[in-house]
Amino acid sequence: MTRRPDKHEPSTLRDLSQAVHAGNTIDAGTGAVRTPIVMANSYALPEDPSSMSWSSAEATIYTRNGAANQKLLQQKLALLEHGEDSVVLASGVAALHAVFFTFLRTGDHAIIADQTYEASFRLFDELLPEKYGIEASFVDTSDLEAVRAALRPTTRLIHTETIANPTTRLADVAALADIAHDAGALLSVDSTFTPPPLSYPLDDGADLVVHSLTKYINGHGDAMGGSVAGSAELIGRIKADAMVDVGGVISPFNAWLITRGSVTLPLRIRQHVASALRVAEFLEADPRVAYMYYPGLSSHPQHELARRVLPHGFGGVMAFAVEGDADTQNRFVSQLRVITSAVSLGHDESLIVHVGTSGPRVAHYPEEFRRYGHLRLSIGLEDADDLIDDLRSALDATF
Ligand SMILES: Cc1ncc(COP(=O)(O)O)c(C=O)c1O
Repeated sequence: MTRRPDKHEPSTLRDLSQAVHAGNTIDAGTGAVRTPIVMANSYALPEDPSSMSWSSAEATIYTRNGAANQKLLQQKLALLEHGEDSVVLASGVAALHAVFFTFLRTGDHAIIADQTYEASFRLFDELLPEKYGIEASFVDTSDLEAVRAALRPTTRLIHTETIANPTTRLADVAALADIAHDAGALLSVDSTFTPPPLSYPLDDGADLVVHSLTKYINGHGDAMGGSVAGSAELIGRIKADAMVDVGGVISPFNAWLITRGSVTLPLRIRQHVASALRVAEFLEADPRVAYMYYPGLSSHPQHELARRVLPHGFGGVMAFAVEGDADTQNRFVSQLRVITSAVSLGHDESLIVHVGTSGPRVAHYPEEFRRYGHLRLSIGLEDADDLIDDLRSALDATF
């Protein structure tokens, strides 16, 4: 992996330039100015490999130990997240599991945000307690007193999302980091809703920042991946335990796609946040909309915190419902012609998903979510006026 000697070291550049230049090298073999996809499972061994550690994540020996495209993406994400290192895995859930698997053991206790992505919830509600004897308390992580009260001598980890999926509740990462560190615990933060340049949880004191790369960082809805960034020491442990020996590695092709997608991340984010605010304002003002949660609106219960911790914008996801029952929500969604009904978020196209009122997670949601269900809307890169026209037409056709 050679850089031309007269090329700038990406770490010396500003955000926009880093997104372009980090993770890319001039290919030594061909001279190509974009790093090619290296589709290989194995790499040539040194003359005497007999004393090598086959569990090493340092030497390039086998794709499950870390391969060319994956390593470049790891370097890039470490830089973008202001971490010393990062590890890239096959999905966001693989990244979450890697954190929990690496840093928790039987008898340990974890504090988990009670409004959180489905898999994080289920891992701590069922799988990790039942299979590994890990204890978990689901806590409102926006209530710092409640977090302090939930601490136990065995608490090893606090886990939260910067903006919670799907309720858009915010976490004060710096305050949670203080609580975690006073208790000798780690703070891990899922920042999928707020990729750089919106927030830098490591700068605010988090120990680990997790992303579903599937979302904004790739941004094009065509590849899955997950990452964890942090100190070299903590990331080294995840690589050794969860990557090499549990094995949820990313494919070279997906690592390459995500590296390419992330080139435009800062530009895309500007568009997502600008359009999301306009759409949220439009929907909130319509009397046929029952409620609207978007951190950029002054009506959001934590708008003041959002302005303080998210100075560059409030993300591209909102949750709302139209007046009426579940059938009405479905009728409204079925009338949309630009916005697509599909799961996921952070794609180039706007996506909406109708989620109902059943399931153990919903008990922790605000009252409106429990009454109406919710529509999670991820604003894409279309013209905001087209999105507003689409939503207006669907409202007119529904009511
Ligand atoms: C906040 C958050 N974290 C993690 C994930 C899981 O990511 P993946 O689908 O890439 O496994 C998601 C997926 O929607 C998410 O929204």
